[in-house]
Amino acid sequence: MAANRTTLRFITCGSVDDGKSTLIGRLLHESRSIFDDQMSALQQDSRQYGTQGEQIDFALLVDGLQAEREQGITIDVAYRFFASEKRRFIVADTPGHEQYTRNMATGASTADLAIILIDARKGVLTQTRRHSRIVAMMGIRHIVLAVNKMDLVDFSESIFNAIVAEFHKFTETYGFMDVEAIPLSALEGDNVFIQSSRTIWYSGPTLLSYLDSVETGSTEVCGAFRMPVQWVNRPNLDFRGFCGRVAQGEVRPGDAVRVLPSGVASKVKEVIVWQGTINRAGIGESVTLTLVDEIDVSRGDMIVSADAPPQAADQFEARLLWMSEHPLVAGRPYLFKLHSKEVTATVSSIKYREDVNSGAHLAARSLGLNEIGVVNISLSQAVAFEPYSVSRILGGFILIDKLSFETVGAGMIDFALRRSTNIHWQALEVDRKARGQIKHQKPCCIWFTGLSGSGKSTIANMLEKRLHSEGKHTYILDGDNVRHGLNRDLGFTEADRVENIRRIGEVARLMVDAGLIVLVSFISPFRSERQMARELFSKDEFIEVFVDTSLDVCECRDPKGLYAKARRGELKNFTGIDSIYEPPLLAEVHLKSGVESPEVCMEHIVAMMNK
Ligand code: ADX
Repeated sequence: MAANRTTLRFITCGSVDDGKSTLIGRLLHESRSIFDDQMSALQQDSRQYGTQGEQIDFALLVDGLQAEREQGITIDVAYRFFASEKRRFIVADTPGHEQYTRNMATGASTADLAIILIDARKGVLTQTRRHSRIVAMMGIRHIVLAVNKMDLVDFSESIFNAIVAEFHKFTETYGFMDVEAIPLSALEGDNVFIQSSRTIWYSGPTLLSYLDSVETGSTEVCGAFRMPVQWVNRPNLDFRGFCGRVAQGEVRPGDAVRVLPSGVASKVKEVIVWQGTINRAGIGESVTLTLVDEIDVSRGDMIVSADAPPQAADQFEARLLWMSEHPLVAGRPYLFKLHSKEVTATVSSIKYREDVNSGAHLAARSLGLNEIGVVNISLSQAVAFEPYSVSRILGGFILIDKLSFETVGAGMIDFALRRSTNIHWQALEVDRKARGQIKHQKPCCIWFTGLSGSGKSTIANMLEKRLHSEGKHTYILDGDNVRHGLNRDLGFTEADRVENIRRIGEVARLMVDAGLIVLVSFISPFRSERQMARELFSKDEFIEVFVDTSLDVCECRDPKGLYAKARRGELKNFTGIDSIYEPPLLAEVHLKSGVESPEVCMEHIVAMMNK
């Protein structure tokens, strides 16, 4: 019987105070999913620490596990399992504090249904709105609105109705297919497993009977076949299998398929699972496919139905939930992970931020922790995808910080931008090598970074004079100068500095392309943007020069009197004072300009250029 039971995955949203732990504890207990030893420990703990007199305090069961989890700050979603006679249930239990939106999004990404808990005494809170919005954004279409603690409001029908009406009002446009509102008391058990005699005005199902019967349709076969390749299994020369999970549609031996992005066509030879070969695999199944032809397939590729392949694009409009303390900065490169594919991405513009309470579209230059916005995203190469509304697996992505590897955002692709496919790189006949040759030089970019007053400009000027005297064609891009023209619209906030460096990186690239030796002299305080600039060039074209002069020395020199101003509080976001400088970890040239003379420093660079 157990084998025939379907599985329902759901998430519970709400804070501990709303009774979430108590509700989950009761579901586990009444479905007999708690082990005997856990039960006797719980009885003892309830007597000792519980808040419920002689009764068992179910919250202790779940909260105990939670406290444990809160020690470590990695992924904080606990999956709990229980079963009824009809179904198996997997509950993603996520902590309820505001800053834990990340865990909520993680739990929601695989759930079919969400239970949104409300404390009947408090009604709809900002957090309820935030959770509902995230749940909607993550594509959950089935909602249970659990109005809890009804015992504390005398099982009042009017209080219940008012909360339900308010909920319906603000979620009207969220695309929920059904919202089942249930008045309950997780603590006393009303309408959880057994119909309560204290809510005679309520004729709907109990929580369990609803969970038992709700149809979510998550296992239907719909759409053409798609499987992202997670791993290529090649144990010996005779066997090459492509492993992954069917994300959409179904697959059978003999099916005509195509591998993306290469587009090469073949046929499925076998569909293999651990028991052996099978005749068909559907959505959600993990399989290994072998193909009739020997073709090149690697991790991150997608095997798809030959006659109905998905679109591929490198620019999207997407909804983004920001999950890091450090705000999203447009223009900064992040790692973009979509199914098993990883590429570099930047948010090219933030179209708007959504107000969680009103849903209003607000102008925004960045997104902070837990904020939701609609953005344009641009990738370093095209990826195959489906809109999130069609497939959560093929349209849901995460953004990862390139240096700390922290997951900073969760996003959903809405659609590809048309310019994605319509702008082609012009292949030009005269290339940078030819342009350099006519000038008898090897074009390159020498990138100076360091604090204001560290000596970047002095050394760059000296180097340019030297190169010029040798008949080289050079150009200096200097922060102070460029900020008078091309970048005059930019200030010194983090976002502006990122954009400053992005533009300069692009300009330097064009100049190197034109055959010049370009000297770039900008504070360029952030590692990630210097890395972004580096990636615009080939390895031997980019020389990063760290002009390492201590803050004390720079402040003492203070050539423009700006440090003094910053100390007096008249100049905000001054690097080294109230804005950080991230020193390079592996610069090609490391100059101690407070110790060595500018001439000596310059010679170090010349030596590196001649290497
Ligand atoms: S960067 O951080 O975006 O790379 P950039 O090199 O373009 O800075 O500009 C730095 C110059 O702008 C400094 O040398 C200084 O003369 C001037 N400046 C004005 N305000 C600031 C500030 N808040 N922080 C740093 N430099 C500033």
